[in-house]
Order: sequence, then structure tokens, then C-alpha cells
Amino acid sequence: MIDQYQRNIDYLRISITDKCNMRCFYCMPENGVNHLEHDKILSPEHIKEIVEAFASLGIKKVRITGGEPLVRNGVIDICRYISAIKGIEELCLTTNGSLLDKYATLLKDSGVKRLNISLDTLDEKKYRLMSRGGDLNKVLNGIKIAQDVGFKDIKINAVLIKGYNDDEVDNLFNFASKNGLKIRFIELMPIGPSKELFKEHYLSTDSIIKSHPQLEFKSFDGVSLTYLDKNTGTEVGFISPLSHSFCGLCSRIRLTADGMIKPCLHSPQEVNIFDLHGEELITAIKEAIYHKPKQHNLNNDGSLSIRDMSKIGG
Ligand code: 5AD
Ligand code: SF4
Repeated sequence: MIDQYQRNIDYLRISITDKCNMRCFYCMPENGVNHLEHDKILSPEHIKEIVEAFASLGIKKVRITGGEPLVRNGVIDICRYISAIKGIEELCLTTNGSLLDKYATLLKDSGVKRLNISLDTLDEKKYRLMSRGGDLNKVLNGIKIAQDVGFKDIKINAVLIKGYNDDEVDNLFNFASKNGLKIRFIELMPIGPSKELFKEHYLSTDSIIKSHPQLEFKSFDGVSLTYLDKNTGTEVGFISPLSHSFCGLCSRIRLTADGMIKPCLHSPQEVNIFDLHGEELITAIKEAIYHKPKQHNLNNDGSLSIRDMSKIGG
């Protein structure tokens, strides 16, 4: 469906839970967050109905996110339902990778085509510190298992945080090329706990591109600037919502676990569809897409989103 600024909205991101088994310091407060109660969360069947409605309006690609989507009961049912919907050409999932040992095969069998795995550091101690207790080896093992069960084109997502992992960029490049993975660096966004962090620790992806002359520009798909590492043939992506605003080409719309459509990541605007079905549901989705904000809505205090990243899923 085309929005009022002539953008073709064909990509739906669904956060199926606000829970996570980690507490990355830039994403979640130390003591965790108040979680949504079970009866405030969309059921797998309702998610199916909603995605069918979105598909009838032109959504072709769906990504499942969280929190951590693999901690949600019913994640496999949700994936099975969505991959079977007519019009949905690609189902992907973003995960922290820690539960892939248990879920990789099930995800493959339920129709998930591609995985993005968040990995900000290859240093075990730093990983534990940044994720407040996560185990790097579980993630590395999870990546291997996902490859073994046949996932191709796995992308590693690393959020760039000055003073934490900017010294690991080359390590991460090498890790990706050695293991046949793609890698993308994402600029830190001033949202939730990152609003404070942002002031001292934001690093533009341009500085990485400049300091790596072996990177050859390949393409820009509206979100990710893609380069080819001439030395290794590895694909390296950069997502730079702040240094290169890409709102004019944005094709995304988001659905939260508690049934809110979120037309723009950094806008407070949300449309409640939790109780809607049938024609009412279709009308609400159409309205939400049509009124998608023109561009980022960031002020000096950062994002104007009324919910944090852990409740949006990136
Ligand atoms: N800026 C950029 N990315 C973020 N994520 C969480 N918080 C931020 C932030 N402030 C990312 C996670 C994960 C995805 C779900 O969102 O690292 O890759
Ligand atoms: Fe799309 Fe909104 Fe993000 Fe811009 S800020 S890229 S419009 S979701």
C-alpha cells in the first residue's frame, strides 16, 4: 500500500514479546522493565489474522522481533501461520542467538527464511558486561547450529558504541568473513536507556567506512548502505538512521506485542488494533499506513517514541 508520501509500505515488523533473556545496557534498564501481562498480548491466531489483513494490503515481507522472540511461547506457531499466508514472500527473524541451539531446526521447518543475529562484541567478558549476564559461547554455538540446519545469508547486527566495541570492528569483520556471515553495523539511537549513553558514545558509521579503504560501495536499499570488503569478499552493511536519514525510502510498519501499530520508530504515534477484527481491522491498518509520519521525529532529548526499543524490536 502507498502512504500519503508515496512510499510503498510492504514490510511489517512484529514484536511478539517485550521479554528478553538478556539486559543489554543500551536497550533495557538494569532492573528490567514491567512486562505486559499475558492477556494483553496478541494470541498467535490473532497475529495470523492481522498479518492476513496486512498481506491483503500489500505487505510482502515480515520480520519477527522482540524483546527476544524465542522466549515467547508459541513463536513456532506464529512463524508457521505467517509463512503460510498468501502474499507473504519472506519471513525473517531477529534474535540474540542465545536460544538457537533449541530453536534453529524448528524455525527452519516453520518457514523462516533468514535470521539476523545481534552480536556486539566477540570478547566473552565484554559480552557478559554489555548484555548484563549473557553468554557469548551460547550465541556463537547458536550461529553455528543455525548454519548447520541450513540457514543461509545470516546477518550479524552490531550496534556501534564508542568506547565499548569500536575497537572490535576489524575483529567482527574477520569473524564474519571466516564464518561466511554478513555483517552490519548499526548506529546507536537515542531511545530508552540509550538517550543518556548517546551523548558520549554515539559513533557515526561514516568514521568506520572512512578508516577502511578496502570497503567498496555496492548498494543502498533504503535502509542499509552495503559495501564489499575487497580483501575478503564479505558484505558489510551500515545502518545509519542518524547520519543518513532514510525516511524517504522507508517501507516499514511495525506491530507491537500488545496490538499497537507503530507507523514510525521514533514517533509517539500508535494505533490500537488489539480488539479489532474483520473490516474494522482492515480500515485501521489502512489509516495507520496512510498516516505514517514523513520522517524521524527526534528532538534534543532523542526519540519521541513512547516505548523503548525492547518493546519495539529495532
Ligand atoms: N540503538 C540501535 N539499536 C538498538 N537496539 C536496541 N537498542 C538500540 C539502540 N538504542 C537493537 C538491538 C537489536 C535490535 C532488536 O535492536 O541491538 O539488534
Ligand atoms: Fe522509517 Fe520512521 Fe525509521 Fe524514518 S524514523 S526510517 S520513517 S521508521
